[in-house]
Amino acid sequence: MACTRCTRDNKKSSSILLVIIISVPALSPGWVYTQAQEEFLEAGEDTPHVQCDQEHGQQIDNSHTVLQKIAQLYAERLLSDITLDVGGRLFPAHRLILCASSNVFQVMLMNPSWSEAQESLISLQEEPPCQEVFGDFLRYLYTGRVHLTHEMALPLLRLADKYNVRDLLRLCTKYLCGHVVTAASFGQLVSWLHYTRLCYHGDIMATCQDFAIWNFERLARSPDFHLLDLELLVALLSNSSLVVRDETTVFYCAAEWLQAQEEKVEDNQEFRHLVCEVMSHVRFFMMSAKHLAALLLHPFTSRFKEIITEGMRLAMNFQSQRSLPQNCPPSALIPRLYTAEVWSVHWTLENFPLLPAYGVSTLMFSTPASLVDMEAGPTYDWVLELYPKGVCFKRFYLLIVQGTLEMPEHVYKTVRLSLTLKDIADKIVRVNVGILIFSSQDGHEYIHKVIKKPFVFSNDSRMLNIDDLIPYDELNHRTFTSPYLIGPAGDSLKIQIIITPSSITS
Ligand SMILES: *[C@@H]1O[C@H](CO)[C@@H](O)[C@H](O)[C@H]1NC(C)=O
Ligand SMILES: *[C@@H]1O[C@H](CO)[C@@H](O)[C@H](O)[C@H]1NC(C)=O
Repeated sequence: MACTRCTRDNKKSSSILLVIIISVPALSPGWVYTQAQEEFLEAGEDTPHVQCDQEHGQQIDNSHTVLQKIAQLYAERLLSDITLDVGGRLFPAHRLILCASSNVFQVMLMNPSWSEAQESLISLQEEPPCQEVFGDFLRYLYTGRVHLTHEMALPLLRLADKYNVRDLLRLCTKYLCGHVVTAASFGQLVSWLHYTRLCYHGDIMATCQDFAIWNFERLARSPDFHLLDLELLVALLSNSSLVVRDETTVFYCAAEWLQAQEEKVEDNQEFRHLVCEVMSHVRFFMMSAKHLAALLLHPFTSRFKEIITEGMRLAMNFQSQRSLPQNCPPSALIPRLYTAEVWSVHWTLENFPLLPAYGVSTLMFSTPASLVDMEAGPTYDWVLELYPKGVCFKRFYLLIVQGTLEMPEHVYKTVRLSLTLKDIADKIVRVNVGILIFSSQDGHEYIHKVIKKPFVFSNDSRMLNIDDLIPYDELNHRTFTSPYLIGPAGDSLKIQIIITPSSITS
């Protein structure tokens, strides 16, 4: 129940409180009253939290001053009872604080059977990046404050892992998940991927991996791409949701990675195995004759004939005679999400806030009907309709046996995309529909979300509806700007639609 009188007398009670606070340090001798604290009290932003009870007594929570005092211990190294040696740098500290934040320190410092229990100088073995941020780590243990940047977030996460500081772990996880694009721009994504996979940080790992799959060319251009380990590269290259310009681009990215490994691998035979393993994930069947011909000029083609030339030969064979090799892996016949113009269309809705509620935008485009002769063959004609601000069905009358039935107006709060195939006649058309949704993080535009739907168009199902393309409230929120509205003015919704046959044989 609210205590109204106390709330009304707010001003008075806070002035009384100020007196109380000031008197606290004065009562405790030995407490050094510092400039910083004075400023802190004067600023008044942290006025103690006051709760009134029924008898108008006051529950006073002034706990932040305790924090302030502990922070002071760190700043002044007062009464330090232990020194941590981290790569030659000495950090005076307090056993009590270390043990309170970390059960690893607890075991290390309180167990008498450990030699550390008695020592007052303890040497900690940390990797160089972790040594760099150790001071920030220690300050966090005293103050709960840390200024995270993309460079230090991962080393701090590693320290939080090692010493099991759960709260810091949560902070770092949240930061890393929210800054994957920045990490990619600064050549750190690969180390984030490697570490989070090693230590089972599922959330960060999944966010990094989604980014890598959906923005593969960006990763391939970044300076740390060649540091990617084989297992992760294969996980990317074998994924059919990989978003990439075309399959030749996959080949060139793979070749670039391989060239960087050649210096590291000493044995020629070993390198040959590596080329074989990596190139087996390139889907030569997805390349046009023109692209295949261009690959002949690549230095790898003559060096590794048995792998590359063979893949090219099979692909050309299929294009001329439609014959598939015996033990062809099924994935080799499946297209990825190709962003080349022939398969895809960009769609930008500008001035998004001014678009009418329940309005629809329409776009028409065509894509090749076959993966084999994509340049000159027949095409499918599509009609795309986008309802970015919900769908409204007007009131209408239904004719039934007993007369007419009035159907009331219906509104669906969803962001819907409808895709219709024109002139279907009585064909059966199997396609993969991919929708890329763009967003922006720290000024870098990137693909934030991908929806991939296999669909069969036929006489009975001529239209594919995809609801909740983006959660309605995330796009149409009244109070905050949607992360999906980007561009120079921050008011454009940007998507890209990709439609390919679902397999080379369909
Ligand atoms: C392919 O990548 C997507 C996006 O990261 C992921 O959701 C999916 O599980 C991956 N597929 C396979 C087979 O690993
Ligand atoms: C599909 O529809 C067309 C025209 O509406 C019709 O001529 C054709 O027979 C139908 N085919 C099948 C398989 O239902």
